[in-house]
Amino acid sequence: MPRPAIPATGRPWNALSAELEAAKAADYSWRRGRMAVYFYYLDEALHRVQQEAYKAFWTENNLGQRAFPSLKRLEEEVVGMGLGLMNAPDAAGGTFTSGGSESIFLSMLAARERARKGRGLAPGRGNIVIPDSAHLTFDRACWYLGLESRRIPVGEDFRADVPAMARAIDAGTVAIVGSAPCYPFGVFDPIPALGALAEQQGLWLHVDACVGGFLSPFVARLGHPVPDWDFRVPGVTAISADIHKHGMAPKGASLLLLREEALRGLHRFESRAWQRGPYAAYTSQGTRPGGAVAAAWAVMNYLGEEGYLDCARRIMAAKRTMTEGIGGIQGLSVLEPSDLSLFVYRATDPALDIGKVAAALDARGWLPGRQQQPDGMHLHLNPVHAEVAEEYLADLRAAVEEARGGATTARVAAEARTY
Ligand SMILES: Cc1ncc(COP(=O)(O)O)c(C=O)c1O
Repeated sequence: MPRPAIPATGRPWNALSAELEAAKAADYSWRRGRMAVYFYYLDEALHRVQQEAYKAFWTENNLGQRAFPSLKRLEEEVVGMGLGLMNAPDAAGGTFTSGGSESIFLSMLAARERARKGRGLAPGRGNIVIPDSAHLTFDRACWYLGLESRRIPVGEDFRADVPAMARAIDAGTVAIVGSAPCYPFGVFDPIPALGALAEQQGLWLHVDACVGGFLSPFVARLGHPVPDWDFRVPGVTAISADIHKHGMAPKGASLLLLREEALRGLHRFESRAWQRGPYAAYTSQGTRPGGAVAAAWAVMNYLGEEGYLDCARRIMAAKRTMTEGIGGIQGLSVLEPSDLSLFVYRATDPALDIGKVAAALDARGWLPGRQQQPDGMHLHLNPVHAEVAEEYLADLRAAVEEARGGATTARVAAEARTY
C-alpha cells in the first residue's frame, strides 16, 4: 500500500462520513453481540446518552481543571460514586484514569514509591507477586517501572495459590495482586487470604476489579454468590475498576481507588524542572478528554442502581442460557468454576478440533475468542448477549457439526488471540 498522505485539498464532511461508515464493513457487529470481548452494549437509548454526554464536553481538556471546574466536579462525583460502590472507608481517595492499564500502572508505581520511600528499596530493584491469571498489563507496568513480575501458577480451581505466593515474597516485593475476577477464567482470587498475607507482610495489595468492579456488586444483589473482594476486606490497599467495561461508559474511563487519600501522592508527578512554573498530575496522561468524564458521569446517573441491576440480570441470564446450551452439545464442556460474566468452553472429545469450531463460528460472523491452557473458547458477556444467546447456540451447534464433518479446513489458532 502506498504511504497515505494528507490530501492537497480537503473533502466535504458528507463524503468523509460515508467513507468512515464504509470502513466498518468488515468489522464484527457489536450491536448484534457478535463479539464477547472489547465491547459493552445495552441498547440504543444508552448509546445516545454516551454520545450526547461525550459531545457536551468533547473538546474540554480535563488536564486543565483550573479552567474547567465543571470537569473537576464531575470527576469528583464519579470517583465518589465508585468509592461508595466498592465500600471504601471515609479516608479513601481515587483517580479517574483512561483505562484499566493506566489504573494498574499507577497503582504499581505507588506501591514501588512506597517501598522506596518507606524501606529504602533501591532504584532498579523490586518485584510484584501475582497469580499467573492476572492480566498481562501488570507485566507491562513492571516493564515501564523496572520491576520484576513473579507469576505464580494458580491452583486447580484457577484461583491464586496464596501459600505459593507467600513463598515467592522477598525483601524486594512491593505488591501482591488478586483479581476480581481474572480475565482468563472469570474466577475471583481469594482476596481475604491475600489481604491477610498483605497485612502480615506489610505489603500493598492491589485488587484488579477492572471486570468485576461495576458488575459484581449488582450480581450479588441479585442473589448470586459473589466472593468478598472490595474494601470491606482488611488488607486491600488499591482497587482498579473500569467504568468503560461493566460501568457501561464509553472507552477511556476507569478508576484507581486507594484506601487512603494520602496514598495518591505516591503516584503524583510534579516537576519544577523548567522555569515556567510547576507541572503536576496524578495520571500518566497530560491532556485528558473531558468527554470521557462527562460520559461516565452521565451513564452512571442515567442507569442508576436500577439500570446496573438490569444489566447484571441480562448478563447472568445470557450466561445461564449459553453455559447450559453449550453443556448440552456433545463433545463440548464449560470450564468450572466461573464466578461472573466470563467463561471458557473446550472440546472434551479428542476428535473435535476446537480451532475448527472457532473458524466455523467466525465464518458465521462471530469473533472467536481463542484461549490456551486449556485450549478453548473464551467469552466475556455483556448485556446484548441476552438477546443473541439462542442465535449463538444455534450457530455453535452448526459449527460443531461442520467441524466434525471435516468441511471446515481453516482453524483459528489459540495463540492468534490478542486483547
Ligand atoms: C481483569 C483485567 N484487568 C485489566 C484489564 C486492562 O484494561 P484496559 O484494556 O482498559 O486497559 C483488562 C482488560 O480486559 C482486564 O480484563
